[in-house]
Amino acid sequence: MAENIRTYRPGDEESIASLLRKCFETYSSYGLDSSKWLELAKLNEGFKLEGAYLLEVDGKLVSHVQVVEKKLRTSAGFLETAGIANVSTDPEYRGKGHASRLLSKAMEDYKRRGFPLTALFTGYASGPQRIYRRLGYVDICLDEWWIAPLWDAQGSIREVRWIEVREAEERDIQRITRVYETSGNFYTGWPVRSESECREKMFARTAYHSFFYLPRSPGDFVVAEEGGEVVGYAMAAKIPWDPEGFGIAELVALPGRVDALQALFTYVVKRASEKGARYLRAPRVPGAEYTRVFSSFRAQMGGGVFMSEVLNFRALLENAVARETAFLDELALRLKYRGEVATVSVREGRVKVGEDSADAVVDLDPETFNRFLFGYSSAEELLLNSTVKADVPAKRVLNLFKELFSPKPMHIWLVDRW
Ligand SMILES: CC(C)(COP(=O)(O)OP(=O)(O)OC[C@H]1O[C@@H](n2cnc3c(N)ncnc32)[C@H](O)[C@@H]1OP(=O)(O)O)[C@@H](O)C(=O)NCCC(=O)NCCS
Repeated sequence: MAENIRTYRPGDEESIASLLRKCFETYSSYGLDSSKWLELAKLNEGFKLEGAYLLEVDGKLVSHVQVVEKKLRTSAGFLETAGIANVSTDPEYRGKGHASRLLSKAMEDYKRRGFPLTALFTGYASGPQRIYRRLGYVDICLDEWWIAPLWDAQGSIREVRWIEVREAEERDIQRITRVYETSGNFYTGWPVRSESECREKMFARTAYHSFFYLPRSPGDFVVAEEGGEVVGYAMAAKIPWDPEGFGIAELVALPGRVDALQALFTYVVKRASEKGARYLRAPRVPGAEYTRVFSSFRAQMGGGVFMSEVLNFRALLENAVARETAFLDELALRLKYRGEVATVSVREGRVKVGEDSADAVVDLDPETFNRFLFGYSSAEELLLNSTVKADVPAKRVLNLFKELFSPKPMHIWLVDRW
């Protein structure tokens, strides 16, 4: 049997769509066909045709992996990330290592291209999770939701008279994107989203995932306006597969504007009631402002897990040191990550990545390091779980980590999940 791995060529969309329908119930009920698959590439900037990997056996498509490029916020700054999606193998060809080999080839290519990171969503304790763990992916966090019976949500609505909630219009897109990006700076995960993605996924249609959409109905997408300024926005609609549910896909306000979050929340709860919904569901968002507004909701696990793995450690460090920070202590650290080595050195207040001799060597624990990138571990925890050999006090090593990296809570809205 001749096995061949390659990337997309025009005409492959037929066999890719057919394999995806066979492997995913969601795509089958969505009626994914070649033109809808090609549309995904138009709607998602990071979904490039050259990121579609195919494994063929004797000329027949057997396995497929899609790389979706995303720029994610991390404690090391914005990182170009190879997002992995649509991992699939024809049922008749499973258990032979096809998916594992195809994904490893995609990882190798994106490592070579200088992508510092790769990340994906999958089911926790599932077969695919075992494949990803074997390839080095680390569990970062489990999928969590907020859920409330309509009655409870209605009990926590508050009118905010100085804010008007109105239908989002084309002229608002730039300002909505600004609200999204500004709020994102308080989080990790939270991918950069272009105006065109905002237009396609929220204005032209109502997305509830990077690949799944509903037609937009009036009232699905609204802005909170105060004195002519957009201070927040919300996208929410009835859950397509459950007539009793109302889903909040996105609810965002400028930092510190808990009043705008509250105004949007009130609007969404009233609309859920008008639409005959009996409960509301939203992705759980960390942060005091969200916790306050969603106080009548209870947390619920979703069964999914977000995983990541460093692809190119040197590129990641170069990214971390490129951010503007004032470095005070003259120190050189040799950092090791799964066999990759690079030295970060501070000389005369400037920091660079190179091969210099070092005052300390830190062999990083990959599990903790990945979690540290998304705020699920502290610098202290990272050093405790890593192997540190230092000729200088450990406190100085810790301080340099704290200057290089800024961990924050993580969140990725549904529209951006791949
Ligand atoms: C998940 C999926 C892509 C796996 O495809 P696959 O080609 O069978 O994957 P692999 O062969 O690489 O790995 C599957 C198993 O075979 C084992 N395996 C790998 N190479 C092998 C070989 N040469 N001989 C025997 N077994 C092998 C793996 O170790 C793994 O074992 P495990 O289940 O005990 O952990 C496939 O089951 C699928 O399409 N599922 C539906 C879609 C889906 O859920 N996708 C994941 C979305 S996140």
